[in-house]
Amino acid sequence: MNLHLLPPEIEKAHGDFAGHLEACADLDAVMRLKGAYLGRDGSFAARMIDILKAAPKEQKRELGAAINALKNKWEESLKARQSALEELRRQRAAQAQSWDATLPPPLPPRGALHPLTRLIDRLVGIFRPLGYHVEEGPEAETEAHNFDGLNIPEDHPARGSADTFYFKDHPKMLLRTHTSPVQVRVLKRLAPVIEQKGGVRFLAPGRVYRKDEIDPTHSPMFHQVEGMLVGRGIGMHHLKGTLDYAIKALFGPDAATRFRPSYFPFVEPGCEVDARCPLCGGAGCRVCKGAGWVEILGAGLVHPDVLKFAGIDSDTWSGFAFGMGIERIAMMVSQTPDLRLFFENDQRFLAAMGGLD
Ligand code: DAH
Repeated sequence: MNLHLLPPEIEKAHGDFAGHLEACADLDAVMRLKGAYLGRDGSFAARMIDILKAAPKEQKRELGAAINALKNKWEESLKARQSALEELRRQRAAQAQSWDATLPPPLPPRGALHPLTRLIDRLVGIFRPLGYHVEEGPEAETEAHNFDGLNIPEDHPARGSADTFYFKDHPKMLLRTHTSPVQVRVLKRLAPVIEQKGGVRFLAPGRVYRKDEIDPTHSPMFHQVEGMLVGRGIGMHHLKGTLDYAIKALFGPDAATRFRPSYFPFVEPGCEVDARCPLCGGAGCRVCKGAGWVEILGAGLVHPDVLKFAGIDSDTWSGFAFGMGIERIAMMVSQTPDLRLFFENDQRFLAAMGGLD
């Protein structure tokens, strides 16, 4: 090919051609390249025709031959690339249809326990070696168990229909507002045998209900775990030792607890317990709102009236109780900013929480 008769821009275009062609990943790209080199208007071929027309007569033959050779070469190469890509497409389609009976089958996605269930199971596992077993109570409770037996006064705001779901046809029935009524049920059941058993200790996980609007930190249904121990000569030191052990087991050996006096009608004295923020170690962060401590449960020494209500002699027996919100703790340890994620069952969230394979 006598490329020297053609201007440098055409020579360069030819030099680039093989590289451009190589880069064509599909048939559309080949068609575009073809347009640029051989199309009717504006292509290199069109420009060469113009050059041929303008060339002196004596050069026309040789120039014409060079142009034809070049165009033929481009055309052949384009065709070859086109067939190669078509063949590749056929092969891919054939491959997609064929299957290998010796390959292991694709596994269906596996389910797993919900993150809240796993946290509850962990707590149960922490208390089991201390002799605690698991008790359950009904979610549809009586006023007597949810309030009366827990020494909650008649005029306590929590008893109002603004806070508590009551059953329309059963005015003395409600959806329990905490897991504490399980204390009343278990104490009543075990009162006749408490002497033989030497006391009572149990954990009671479950759902509770309150008339709260749904927002990132509230839900009308959430989970609590109640704990109770009744024995002889039980005091605040037993409660502190037990909770300190449990919180270290939950958050790690560096965890620390802080007890603040507080009031709940069913305990005396009552307290709220904070854990040193497990995320920042007390330095202050978003999760603990700079305080370095996060409130994780309410607790106290069982009020004598609670024991009496259940038929247990409060001169002989004493105990402690505690109750914690599971979602609060789950949000904290997983740094989940929105409580609703735990109820929406978005598989992406569950997978991120390690709940799915
Ligand atoms: N029932 C309380 C609540 O829902 C939590 C609680 C506080 C439980 C003190 C207890 C306790 O057993 O001793 O807010």
